[in-house]
Amino acid sequence: MTVHFIGAGPGAPDLLTLRGRDLIAASPVCLYAGSLVPKGVLAHCPSGARIVNTAPLSLEQIFEEISTAHAAGQDVARLHSGDLSVWSAMGEQLRGLRALGIPYTVTPGVPSFAAAAATLEAELTLPGLSQSVVLTRTSGRASAMPDTESLANFAATQAVLAIHLSIHVLPRVVAELSPHYGADCPVAVVWRASWPDERVVRATLATIEAAIGEGMERTALILVGHTLGHNLGETDFAHSRLYAGDYDRRYRPLGTAPRFPAGTE
Ligand SMILES: C[S@@+](CC[C@H](N)C(=O)[O-])C[C@H]1O[C@@H](n2cnc3c(N)ncnc32)[C@H](O)[C@@H]1O
Repeated sequence: MTVHFIGAGPGAPDLLTLRGRDLIAASPVCLYAGSLVPKGVLAHCPSGARIVNTAPLSLEQIFEEISTAHAAGQDVARLHSGDLSVWSAMGEQLRGLRALGIPYTVTPGVPSFAAAAATLEAELTLPGLSQSVVLTRTSGRASAMPDTESLANFAATQAVLAIHLSIHVLPRVVAELSPHYGADCPVAVVWRASWPDERVVRATLATIEAAIGEGMERTALILVGHTLGHNLGETDFAHSRLYAGDYDRRYRPLGTAPRFPAGTE
């Protein structure tokens, strides 16, 4: 018996990995984390599977479910939204499983920041503008932020920020970031990226609060940074050197004495 942790993706059911789909289909028990895991993903469960929404359960109750499946020799598909590497609460479950000697696997999923960037048709790292993306959040009731991980500290780097779990404190986000990025820095808010009711608001730090209006609560990402400008033109960012005609590289060796002669890889 194995517990399979599976990133269920940002919302669209077809943004699930094939491995994740197959593990769900092979597991007689499915524990899924609340409304952010779409029903279309649960449709891969085998008929007669025990399907449990863990949103109203405590960690102890989740372990009761796993222990029951363990005793019955039944694999468990454990679904969390997006990818498991950020804000999934997988860490404490893995620790508990290790203590109990119950085997597990981990299958990644499409994270919400990637789905939001796809919606925006944005490459977040553009040469000369930004080469780093910070996945972060603001303090919440469940998790306080370490002192060093303030928005101001990240903003000092001018990296692109993908701010999760924070749409309800948008005015504070704007106030903390504006001195660093400038009031005209592009901002995009993507609400329920990849869901049928997805919504997008593009603005600047100066205008985003007025532009948001009503109804964008909870499942939204705030993306801030200079690469988020819509319709960035020729002069706004440089081309990557990767595809430059005069760039000598392993897969396209150049000249009489290339740095990477053909056939050396
Ligand atoms: C508990 S975290 C889960 C993050 C998830 N593990 C991931 O990989 O993105 C929930 C937060 O992620 C963001 N989020 C998750 N799904 C989203 C989506 N489809 N569109 C926009 N933001 C989303 C929101 O900021 C939300 O408050």
